[in-house]
Amino acid sequence: MRILVTGAAGRLGGRLVQVLNERKHIVTGMDIVGENVEKVDVSNFEMACDFITGLRPDLVIHPAAWTDVDGCARDPEKAIIINGFGTQHVALAAAAVGSAVLYVSSNEVFDGTAKRPYREYDMTNPINPYGYSKWVGERSILNINPKHYIVRTSWLFAHGGKNFIQSILTAAKDGKTLRVVANEVANPTYNDDLADAIANLIESGRFGIYHLVNEGACSRYAFARYALDKAGLKDTPVTPISSHEWQRPSTPPLYGSLQNMAGKHIGVALRPWQEAVDAFLEKEGLLAANE
Ligand SMILES: NC(=O)c1ccc[n+]([C@@H]2O[C@H](COP(=O)([O-])OP(=O)(O)OC[C@H]3O[C@@H](n4cnc5c(N)ncnc54)[C@H](OP(=O)(O)O)[C@@H]3O)[C@@H](O)[C@H]2O)c1
Repeated sequence: MRILVTGAAGRLGGRLVQVLNERKHIVTGMDIVGENVEKVDVSNFEMACDFITGLRPDLVIHPAAWTDVDGCARDPEKAIIINGFGTQHVALAAAAVGSAVLYVSSNEVFDGTAKRPYREYDMTNPINPYGYSKWVGERSILNINPKHYIVRTSWLFAHGGKNFIQSILTAAKDGKTLRVVANEVANPTYNDDLADAIANLIESGRFGIYHLVNEGACSRYAFARYALDKAGLKDTPVTPISSHEWQRPSTPPLYGSLQNMAGKHIGVALRPWQEAVDAFLEKEGLLAANE
């Protein structure tokens, strides 16, 4: 397939370019930053439209986004312009040349009040500006381009760059006091596993809404504790705190666990999050012996 990947300098987009190239697809990467990518700003309609309609790919995979959740809370209008209208531009351009589109969305389109993991067709109800902007993106895809996949995910951890596991391990090694929120729950998801799952999904041709996350959910506290233990830092104390004690501009949904029902139905599933953390630590050379 001829595939355009937006956000190709980002964590997921970068990994997707690698995986899709390995699978012999013809891949073009675009972003507003980075090297070896076409510099295209999705929030600029003419620029995005000209580029996509000129390229005429079979599929546009669209992970590009303003992913700074707290930044989105401080500037909600900018969040809608990039994440909402940027996605509308991608959907319109793709539809104009008959390209399918895969939009990467978030568990933050849900309000976090559910009593069981969210299924793909549950009602969305975002409660913060980032979630709202991703929801606007979803609506655009749904309304504009019938050949679509919407892939929601959560709590990505990736090699390179900033991620929750690295932040916790670095803070522990620096001897900092660790206080981690224990009443916010979601699915830690390994970027490499997600990229593989997306590659499997697009090769299936089964359009629809998907929840692609590593299996199982936990609190941020349990996620941190597990990573520390597996990295040989069992003696590092971590204090569980409530989200009220961790003030931040954005209000995350407290229960953001996703259930992968639709993906499993077609054989696209990810391993349990604990196995994924082990694999991540092993690749980083951080998995402690006998753990
Ligand atoms: N990370 C998570 O925990 C998480 C959880 C759930 C869902 N998601 C979703 O998963 C997707 C990928 O996340 P990620 O962690 O890989 O994000 P990322 O590393 O921040 O990558 C996103 C890329 O898009 C670029 N970008 C920003 N504005 C753009 C614009 N106007 N035009 C073109 N490119 C633009 C970013 O550039 P800058 O770096 O300069 O902004 C960045 O290179 C996103 O759609 C995100 O909403 C992520």
